[in-house]
Order: sequence, then C-alpha cells, then structure tokens
Amino acid sequence: MLLSELSGVGRDPAGGVTRFAWAAAELELRSWFSARAASLRLDVETDGNGNLWAWWGGSLPGTAFVVGSHLDSVRSGGEWDGPLGLVSAFAAVSSLRDSGWTPTRPLAIVAFAEEEGGRFGLACLGSRLLTGAVEPAHALGLVDDSGVTLAAAMTAAGHDPSGVGADPARLAKIDAFVELHIEQGRMPLPDGARGLAGAGRPVGVAREIWPHGRWRIDLAGVPDHAGTTALADRVDPVLAMAEGIVEVRRAASELGILGTVGRVRVMPGAVNAIASSASLWVDARGQDPDRVHELVTLVERRLGVAAALESWTDVTRFDAALTADVAAAIGGEVPSLPSGAGHDAGVLSLAGIPTAMLFVRNPTGVSHSPEEHAEEADAVAGVAALTAVIRRMAS
Ligand code: GLV
Ligand code: MN
Ligand code: MN
Repeated sequence: MLLSELSGVGRDPAGGVTRFAWAAAELELRSWFSARAASLRLDVETDGNGNLWAWWGGSLPGTAFVVGSHLDSVRSGGEWDGPLGLVSAFAAVSSLRDSGWTPTRPLAIVAFAEEEGGRFGLACLGSRLLTGAVEPAHALGLVDDSGVTLAAAMTAAGHDPSGVGADPARLAKIDAFVELHIEQGRMPLPDGARGLAGAGRPVGVAREIWPHGRWRIDLAGVPDHAGTTALADRVDPVLAMAEGIVEVRRAASELGILGTVGRVRVMPGAVNAIASSASLWVDARGQDPDRVHELVTLVERRLGVAAALESWTDVTRFDAALTADVAAAIGGEVPSLPSGAGHDAGVLSLAGIPTAMLFVRNPTGVSHSPEEHAEEADAVAGVAALTAVIRRMAS
C-alpha cells in the first residue's frame, strides 16, 4: 500500500493523525523524506524557510520542474492530505529511474512546511515565506497553543530561523510546479457531476482555488464565580461566542458561501467560573471573494466587535498551458475541478509561477478527518499520472 510506510506516524488513538510542523511526528516524516530521497540518489536540502527539497539533476542547465506537497496534518486529520503527493512523487521518480529515464533539466520534489497552519495558525506558511507573502518577523513571532514561537520551534528542531524570508533566487529556478493531492469534497463539474466519484474517473486536474481566509474574534468578559454571580450581573463572553458561531453559519447560508468555526478558546477554562475571554476562529470561503469578506462584515456588525484577519488567499486560477500539458500527459480529456481547499500550489501560482494540480479520487470527499480515504488502485493511477507528467515536463 502506497502510504503504509508512514501510516503509524503521529497516529491518534481515535484513528486520525496529528503531525504538526516541527513537532515529533512531522520531524519523523522529515527524516523519512530525506531517507527516501537518499535511497533514490536525490540531493536533499532544507531551505531557509524549512521547506525540504530533493533534487535530481540539480546542476543541469535550465529551470526546474518541481512536484511535491506537504508532510504536516491538521489535528486528528487524515493521512492522505499532503503525504500522498510526496509518496507519489518518490514512487514516480523510482519508476522513472528503474526505466532508465533521466531528466534533461533539474527536477525537484518539495515538501512545504506548515501547510495546514495547524500549529501556528497561518496556512501555507513555508510557501508564503518563500514567496514573500508573509513577513519573516511576523511569522517567527507566531505562537502555538503552548506559547512556543515559530522561531523557538524551528530552533528546537535544529533549524536556524535566521534564514526565514523571501527567496527570490530559489523561486527564479522554478519553471513550473505540479502538486498531486487527494480530492477534497465532491466539487461540481461543468456537466453537473459531483467530484471524481460522480465522473467515474480516478484522476482529475484542478481549475481554481476559491478565495479563502481566516479571522479571529476576541470577546472580553468579566471573570467571576459561577455560583455567586447573578445572571443579570454577568459579562459572559461565552454567550457572545455562541452567538458568533451561529451568526457565522447564518451569514454563510444567506450569502451562499461556506463559513466555519472549527476552533474556539475559552479562558481560563474553568467549569465553575465565568470566562475572562473567549475567542473564535472564522474560516470563510466561496467562489466570490466579495461575499467571503461580506460574511465577516456581517458577523462583525451583528456581534459589535472587529475580527482580526489572520490569513487571506485570493482566488487562484491554475496555469492553463501547464494544466493542458498535464492533461495531455495523462491522456487528454480529464475532469477539471475547483478546489475549496487551499494549497501551496495556489501560493506559488499567486507568486507568478505556473502551477497545476492533480487530484486523486476520494470516494466520499471527506477530508481533514480520519475518514479521508482513496482506494489503492486510484492512488496507483495517481502515481502513473504523475510519472507521465514528469516524463513529459522534464524530458
Ligand atoms: C488546507 O487544507 C485548507 O485548510 O484549505
Ligand atoms: Mn493538503
Ligand atoms: Mn489540508
């Protein structure tokens, strides 16, 4: 099975995997990446932002064709989101090597750091830093749930944080990037079918990524005793938080977009005390960026508080010529899906690098969940597709 060598890493008792950037499970996967690359005689390097690169023919003339994805996961997520792209890339390189093929220009496999933002809150952090979409000082000061900064987490993992920041020389070396990823959701196709399952196809390409953002809303309360404070005398931020959660859902439904609160924090978190503060995080996405912003404005107005933007990614349209090349490599006509999920491919695309994506069928569409799944035969079809793409793009 394609993913079996990684399956146990960061496994939760409840069945999912938790692999946060720069923490033990992700470091184990980084070691796996380096060992797998070495076994294929690829040259491994870590860039200043902690992204891992495995090069084949790194000193060949010309600009590079790059494939890859990420190793980290959301908390209690599935094992396919991210690693499938890397395991498939190594499998593709292995079969190309075995066939006697060699690239005529540099070829790289990249694992971007902290794609999910699961630990430090800012999704696609490694690719955003690389492209200069986020300021190094801001990134290094981000903290995890235990108050550990990104700078401290990198240092503890043996990575020098002083190299964090935009890397235009590295970007200039990349001619094109293709990310293979498990399909997420059952997105509509132009003919009305839903997802690759509806289309009856194991592999598709991505058309665009919907604009999406994350916001934090902080609500202040007056801490007091749960058994001695009359209801009328309370300033309880948890009530406002609950209203906020309901308003996010209501506004999303009014606007016909997606709005989610998947994370809240109540301080200090005592059963028998009125909270001193409460925070909720809003994830909003949809086809139309104006509506996404409108959701946040509506929630702010209804709650009477401001939301702090933590990240924003504009609508991302994948490169038509590269996508046509990808489709041609895998047999011509392929289903083309929009993505409601963000990807490093989107961040590189917004930085002007031609990018495309391959999706491998996920029968239920469930993702960011232990139930995330692809059939082995479809994963193998994904490897074959990526192999054909590499052969076409780097011959
Ligand atoms: C990344 O998976 C996202 O949350 O879009
Ligand atoms: Mn992913
Ligand atoms: Mn994800």
